[in-house]
Amino acid sequence: MATGDFKRAVLVTGGAGFIGSHLVRRLVKNYPDTLVVNLDLLTYAGNLENLRDVENAPNYRFAKADICDAKQVNALFEQFKFEGVFHLAAESHVDRSISDPMAFVKTNVLGTGVLLNAYRAYRADGGKFYQISTDEVFGSLTDEGFFTETTAYDPRSPYSASKASADHLVRAYHHTYHLPVVISNCSNNYGSHQFPEKLIPLMINNIKHEKSLPVYGAGINVRDWLWVDDHVAAIDLIYHQGKTGETYAIGGGNEWRNIDLVHFLCDEADAQLQRTIGASRKLVTFVQDRAGHDHRYAIDASKLQKELGWKPSVTFEEGLRLTIKWYLENSDWLNHITTGNYQEYYKKHYS
Ligand code: NAD
Ligand code: TYD
Repeated sequence: MATGDFKRAVLVTGGAGFIGSHLVRRLVKNYPDTLVVNLDLLTYAGNLENLRDVENAPNYRFAKADICDAKQVNALFEQFKFEGVFHLAAESHVDRSISDPMAFVKTNVLGTGVLLNAYRAYRADGGKFYQISTDEVFGSLTDEGFFTETTAYDPRSPYSASKASADHLVRAYHHTYHLPVVISNCSNNYGSHQFPEKLIPLMINNIKHEKSLPVYGAGINVRDWLWVDDHVAAIDLIYHQGKTGETYAIGGGNEWRNIDLVHFLCDEADAQLQRTIGASRKLVTFVQDRAGHDHRYAIDASKLQKELGWKPSVTFEEGLRLTIKWYLENSDWLNHITTGNYQEYYKKHYS
């Protein structure tokens, strides 16, 4: 066991991405006796600047590797004998899955298979293989009803179909090889360090630069938004206290139509930028709808609330204000992405 002074090692895949970086930060800070190894390929979505505050922590290691490469993955497992895996590495943007579906099949399906095989062959006892998944696997709701753990899978985009396939593989390895697994399906996350191709950071960045705000279709699609740190707190709870073999639905109970959300972002950013409140609404531009655009996602998280006592810590309005503030105050972080400079960080600090 090559974990040195640590009681155990856990693997986080995709730890340089949006949710993964929040999870790595939480695990490194809250579990000093656990070695946290972050495996990330640093695709366009991976950014080690997200982890500046923990990169020198004694219980943190970074490994640049591809989850689809069994040689690289097996070598890390042989070295560290991970007790648990938090699997977040993925291609995660629906629009990209429409233009390049095979990248999603490769990373999200094949990559999950490679990790499961390595976990089966090399794992240490005591942990779980945790598949971090999305509510998008359940398809699209009308204006009524909620997704729960028992909702049938009905994915409708190449992204959600690839995540659904990965979830099925994880369950199959549990039933066939008795691997200790757990899955959670979470609604849309928001917060700091999200790549500015996703709705909220894209809109904040465009408002700041007074660029047009592209709203798909009529802006009436509904998403259920959750503060990223509340998602990460749920992941921590489920990993440590959730039942092996179970699924948990995670959601914030914050359903917003896209157009209402964009208007809120305009008004709050205007206030923070000391512009006339409402001025940025004129930037809203209705553009061609996304192909196969799911109408509504909404989660019933009562199982997680009742069984494990989880609940969100901030209201959506409060979380959004903090999020807008973060993007406005961290213009270097945003500029490094828009100029491509963030990809130099690995070269400068790790190689
Ligand atoms: P992200 O796109 O911000 O980050 C993905 C990370 O995975 C990046 O750091 C990237 O470099 C890495 N990666 C991609 N391909 C890789 C490969 N082949 N090998 C190793 N690393 C690779 O994604 P995110 O929004 O943080 O989402 C993380 C996970 O959570 C995903 O599995 C996603 O399906 C799931 N999820 C996301 C949301 C959301 O709202 N963002 C909601 C529910 C579930
Ligand atoms: P997104 O952040 O891509 O998340 P997801 O598609 O996984 O829900 O998009 C959130 C919603 O915002 C979705 O209904 C699509 C819409 N949207 C726009 O209207 N304009 C945009 O520029 C983007 C990126 C998304």
